Amino acid sequence: MAMIEVQHLRKNFVKTVKEPGLKGALRSFIHPEKQTFEAVKDLTFEVPKGQILGFIGANGAGKSTTIKMLTGILKPTSGFCRINGKIPQNNRQDYVKDIGVVFGQRTQLWWDLALQETYTVLKEIYDVPDSLFHKRMDFLNEVLDLKEFIKDPVRTLSLGQRMRADIAASLLHNPKVLFLDEPTIGLDVSVKYNIRRAITQINQEEETTILLTTHDLSDIEQLCDRIFMIDRGQEIFDGTVSQLKETFGKMKTLSFELVPGQSHLLSHYEGLPDMSIDRQGNTLNIEFDSSRYQSADIIKQTLSDFEVRDLKMMDTDIEDIIRRFYRKEL
Ligand SMILES: Nc1ncnc2c1ncn2[C@@H]1O[C@H](COP(=O)(O)OP(=O)(O)O)[C@@H](O)[C@H]1O
Ligand SMILES: [Mg+2]
Repeated sequence: MAMIEVQHLRKNFVKTVKEPGLKGALRSFIHPEKQTFEAVKDLTFEVPKGQILGFIGANGAGKSTTIKMLTGILKPTSGFCRINGKIPQNNRQDYVKDIGVVFGQRTQLWWDLALQETYTVLKEIYDVPDSLFHKRMDFLNEVLDLKEFIKDPVRTLSLGQRMRADIAASLLHNPKVLFLDEPTIGLDVSVKYNIRRAITQINQEEETTILLTTHDLSDIEQLCDRIFMIDRGQEIFDGTVSQLKETFGKMKTLSFELVPGQSHLLSHYEGLPDMSIDRQGNTLNIEFDSSRYQSADIIKQTLSDFEVRDLKMMDTDIEDIIRRFYRKEL
């Protein structure tokens, strides 16, 4: 049985449309015109136990709305989700013991309490026995390195410390499933690295199933066993990072460093399909579909068009793939 099961999940938001002007306002007041907005349209997927799923999509794609349904905060308009065999909306008090949730944009910690006390309160809320609590705190301390600020009030923590504290809070009761909605947003590189390492360690040691939303492509490459990509509430890709690269990653880039003083020259390849030319100063980048063009031909042609000082070949990285993917689909 899958740890997370989602079937034909939908969420509509109803908005009242206000007509312009006083007359319009009065009319809207008497006969409000409602407009339905489909934030999540017919999502179906399963996540097996122990998998780290990257739940990816542009801003407004419906990621947070989906997570809110999976965690029982929002009720689906139709369809259903079941996590560890439970329907989140049915018995929320029981269900929350199975899951941990972090919304990177806001904290669930108490602002004025010392972090240590926060964890004591959570221990009571989740009914964690003493012995387990101490073992768990030791583990989280080690993985997330909380010691240096655990006695400080939450309001004095830096964003990176707060995020580590929040993740620890979501894991205190050793949940089977962890939902992380942008856990590395706004963090600097070294904190991101620590958080990634912690996520990996928790996943490996506890076989925690993790659904992770992120805009950080290193997060995706380093953490995710699988990518589920949505756009405007609908699935657009489901597969591994390497499948994503295979499917959309036939693009390569040849980067030429030109001898200065050739700004007047145009490349031979200007305007061809599946090829894009980018010129920044003396650097000429030619990006092309390697199933359509031979790099040897491009090099030969460019050497005859330009005086070239150096060249290198690059595989298009996943960031470019995802960007191109969006361009194609929209
Ligand atoms: N409570 C709400 N009421 C009305 N519209 C909402 C509400 N929450 C989200 N939306 C809309 O639903 C869409 C998806 O939002 P969200 O799930 O937050 O996207 P994401 O997390 O992928 O950026 C957006 O267009 C957003 O404006
Ligand atoms: Mg969001």
